[in-house]
Amino acid sequence: MPLRVSRTPTIRHYVMTAPTFFSVEYAINPWMDPTTPVDTHRALDQWDALRRTYKELGHTVELVEPVAGLPDMVYAANGGVLVNGKAVVARFAHPQRAAESDAYAEWMSRHGYPPVRTEHVNEGQGDFLAAGRILLGGHGFRTDIRAHREIARAVGMPVVSLRLVDPRFYHLDTALTVLDDSTVAYYPPAFDAPSCHRLREVFPDALEVADADAHVLGLNAVSDGYHVVLPAAATGFAAQLRAAGFRPVGVDLSELLKGGGSVKCCTLEVHS
Ligand code: ARG
Repeated sequence: MPLRVSRTPTIRHYVMTAPTFFSVEYAINPWMDPTTPVDTHRALDQWDALRRTYKELGHTVELVEPVAGLPDMVYAANGGVLVNGKAVVARFAHPQRAAESDAYAEWMSRHGYPPVRTEHVNEGQGDFLAAGRILLGGHGFRTDIRAHREIARAVGMPVVSLRLVDPRFYHLDTALTVLDDSTVAYYPPAFDAPSCHRLREVFPDALEVADADAHVLGLNAVSDGYHVVLPAAATGFAAQLRAAGFRPVGVDLSELLKGGGSVKCCTLEVHS
């Protein structure tokens, strides 16, 4: 396929939380099995390789202090939404993760982003992804659709609501990734028919990924507009990205996949 456009990276600002206390102690998504052993040291090494990848690409990475007893805190994307100079902190669907909100709210306050709280469940950038001047909002498993309006109002951006229908793709960022302001990649079977229709309308150049790539959480990726950091196992998606002029950068986060997350889940982006 010929390159239709040239892709340009921009410097990004990410927030991450080390998996110091990572484990799979409960099951709140179909990827989690508390009987599977987790190697926390290996998780830390894999997470650190992701952090170093971002640094090598020239991005800023800030760290949130992990809290003992919050094993899912490594999935920093869920901490909230930081966009348009505004911050909204998460309200988690499950009690096991509820206390993470205070840790992320505290980080936001200390860094000059006084956080708004929502009345309804919102799981941060797990379900809200910025694409240019709009937010894509997932619902169906975690985030309550009523939070879409609350967040649209809080950050001053329209939210395009998308309904997730497959429990393995329980957060929007497991089924869709934003590659640049006007380009996304997604897995159509994870969405209901009206949402697929809407996606085709809004993103005529979208990449649609195959089952095999979606099922290794290949879409749980982070793009700077050119480099796309993604799970290394998603080789078909990597080839699609290359053909579309992007540069895939594969990383192995196999330990963190045991909690149902990968690259994007570990990365909260501060969109200015
Ligand atoms: N175990 C976590 C949960 O189920 C994984 C969160 C993954 N994060 C994400 N942004 N998709 O809540």
